[in-house]
Amino acid sequence: MLRSALSIGLVSATVLLSGAALTGSASAEPGAAPAPPPPGPGHSAPVPADSLRALGDRIGLRIGTAVNTDELGSNAEYTRITAEQFSSVTPENVMKWQLVEPNRGTYDWAAADRLVSFAKKNKQLVRGHTLVWHNQLPTWLSSDGFTTTLSNNEVKAVLKKHIQDQVKHFKGDIWQWDVVNEAFDDDGKPRETIWYKAWGGLGYIADAFRWAHEADPKALLFYNDYNLEFTGPKSNAVYDFVKTLKAQRVPIDGVGFQGHLDTQYGFPDLQNNLQRFADLGLKVAETEVDVRTFTEAAPNVNTPTNPLAVYAQESYWSRALKACLAVRECISFTPWGFGDTYSWIPGWFADPQEGAALLYDADLKPKSQYYVIQQDLALAAGAPRRDGGGPGRP
Ligand code: XIL
Repeated sequence: MLRSALSIGLVSATVLLSGAALTGSASAEPGAAPAPPPPGPGHSAPVPADSLRALGDRIGLRIGTAVNTDELGSNAEYTRITAEQFSSVTPENVMKWQLVEPNRGTYDWAAADRLVSFAKKNKQLVRGHTLVWHNQLPTWLSSDGFTTTLSNNEVKAVLKKHIQDQVKHFKGDIWQWDVVNEAFDDDGKPRETIWYKAWGGLGYIADAFRWAHEADPKALLFYNDYNLEFTGPKSNAVYDFVKTLKAQRVPIDGVGFQGHLDTQYGFPDLQNNLQRFADLGLKVAETEVDVRTFTEAAPNVNTPTNPLAVYAQESYWSRALKACLAVRECISFTPWGFGDTYSWIPGWFADPQEGAALLYDADLKPKSQYYVIQQDLALAAGAPRRDGGGPGRP
């Protein structure tokens, strides 16, 4: 459906365009169809039948990617892959508070708006990321996420305004919102952020979901975090917490498992965790998947030190995808970008150096991990149909 609708639209646009070129003027003949607008950046070729998005579409699973909007439009190959391979996009940075309101009271939506319009052109859904977090806050609010010069009441007021303004700005354009990101520590204790301190507890989370729901009642609202993949203090604490949210009828629709995996650790009991959260009556999604491994020092930060590491990476990618495939409520699988050059991993995990975490290499060529995922999707056509067609709540 998705695939054919897109190709038909593009084929007719192409025919009209070449027709106009041949006759010299599209508007010469009375009653002739008006010339279509020129294609915008990334208005791409038809979606290939063996692309990840086309294969995922056959089972109602959205395959997403985080997008670096600096590359989108300016880097032709990056833009083509974004359009052809993925049916959902997540702004890697440009919807974060630091980027949308660097100066108090002045919004800059430009980069995020460009991504939303690219997504519309390419029949992609958008995961909004993220409304409430302790990182990447504007300095006028907090430079570390844990301290602020604002009073508790001011903090409460600015968070309410931020959520209302941002969700309204993108109303109708966002499939899933990561309303709250990373509110718990690895030991399962609430992170004592400026939000936690202002509310004197986790009450900010229910408020955030309610405000977001009021601003866009159709958007699916997610809690998103890392290390939920394996059973342990953090996953257990978040599980208990979202269960209480559901019991209080807080409008939460899903839980996002970031899925930042590393071959130095065992593969987590991910399917089990996706399923137990789903059994609470929630949707689940893998939202930021990458699989890092030890690599050489700069400048070869994407060359694994162990030539066998790639086989562990292939296995982890495959098992991460299959965990989602096996859980009917898992509606999207999103790698955190697709070219190793653009990955956040080498910068954040530099001592010891890790990298090579994505499906495409530094030259934007698909790696063996890509072909494993592609084959898994091709084989999954018999998996249960799920509700990934979006948009939004019933
Ligand atoms: C990362 C981006 O990839 C980097 O470009 C940025 O410098 C820092 O943030 N969890 C999240 C994402 O929820 O927003 C983070 O993205 C990666 C970890």
